Amino acid sequence: MANIVLVGAQWGDEGKGKIIDILTEKADFVVRFQGGSNAGHTVRVGDREFVLHLIPSGILHSKKTCIIGNGVVIDPESLLKEVDTLTSRGIQIDGNLFVSEAANIVLVYHRLLDTLREQFKGEGKIGTTGRGISPTYMDKVGYMGIRAVDLLSEDVLRTKLEINLREKNAYFTKIYNQPPLDLEELLEQYLDYGRRLKKFIANTELIINRAIKEGKRILFEGAQGTLLDVNFGSYPYVTASSTTAGGACIGSGIGPTKIDKVMGVVKAYSTRVGSGPFPTEFAPEDDFVDRKKDREYGATTGRPRRCGWFDAVIVRHAVRVNGLDKIALTKLDILDTAPKIKICTAYKYNNTIIEDFPNDSKLFDNCEPVYEEMDGWLQHIRKTKRFEDLPAATKAYVKRLEELIETPVSIISVGSRRSQTIFLEDLD
Ligand code: IMP
Repeated sequence: MANIVLVGAQWGDEGKGKIIDILTEKADFVVRFQGGSNAGHTVRVGDREFVLHLIPSGILHSKKTCIIGNGVVIDPESLLKEVDTLTSRGIQIDGNLFVSEAANIVLVYHRLLDTLREQFKGEGKIGTTGRGISPTYMDKVGYMGIRAVDLLSEDVLRTKLEINLREKNAYFTKIYNQPPLDLEELLEQYLDYGRRLKKFIANTELIINRAIKEGKRILFEGAQGTLLDVNFGSYPYVTASSTTAGGACIGSGIGPTKIDKVMGVVKAYSTRVGSGPFPTEFAPEDDFVDRKKDREYGATTGRPRRCGWFDAVIVRHAVRVNGLDKIALTKLDILDTAPKIKICTAYKYNNTIIEDFPNDSKLFDNCEPVYEEMDGWLQHIRKTKRFEDLPAATKAYVKRLEELIETPVSIISVGSRRSQTIFLEDLD
């Protein structure tokens, strides 16, 4: 395995955590390049389960270097909580984790603004995770951001906070009817975070590029999914970062020539959390997913996920905008109990068939899925180790998905454990 970017090809929650964990075994470095603690990866190692929001799950393997890149927005409170929890469970972090000095910091006012803006949007709300993600990226591109390195310098942090609070406190008091925030209190709180994070803060683009030069293998782990990408997602129901493969470059400081392979993680059906159009969302009578047993609750917010049939239109879009070479197909076992399985091959809008993902939100909001139906396999596949041993109907379903998305499946996940994985090719 050379340098590989792994991204979600739907609306996030595709089960990337497990695939990342598998690929990490072959990597020397694992790099997060976008998003923040809105993400939540659940990783099972033996009988132990870990939920990680910011730190790459590579931290669970000893001798892997984990990087939180410049494209990530970091809430220090959330990061330090993760560091403390992992440390208390015996995971070695010091020396294995580096945080980009150029990464933007999520401050208390970003979380507040996230919640208040959602309230003001009323019915048009996005259903954000409330982690301050969009307000932090807004400040980044609005030249107001506070970077990790700024937490290490009292005078720089004071000046930047003064400028920010002039604006934010005007929002709070004049628009949102809230009390203003206190500069000294905020300064002390974030200087304290800086003192505790200092040992992790580094020039990570330098570290990553040096590692590439030395022939080390890098895994770039995406968070969220393609349909939440700020450019290519179902805008405006997206997140604020570039969740697609190109984000790996701008969010870590490497050039596109350094990427060898891009793998997309695709769930065998569809899910989304938050608001926004979802053409293949199950009608209540079709919904066979047991949210609890099948683990379809958001790892960050605990919200039950909306579920629906596989949508080949959005995955074809993901194949294109990420340049996907390979697919990891996850949660195929959840379909074990479905007598009939539908696949959306195109949309219909105003009597026109649409095969490519539309950027027109009105169209996406009002289109109808065009389905084809296949037989289910009605037996458990969780113990199957080889593709050849899967039921004929399961193999037919996988083959049909490959045809529709024009990309080969190289990994199939049939359960949450590492052992419940079928490899269709050697990953080396
Ligand atoms: P934000 O990222 O908190 O601003 O939320 C924007 C949208 O992205 C909302 O619909 C969230 O539910 C969704 N979202 C953000 N992070 C994730 C994730 O990790 N998985 C799935 N959906 C997410």
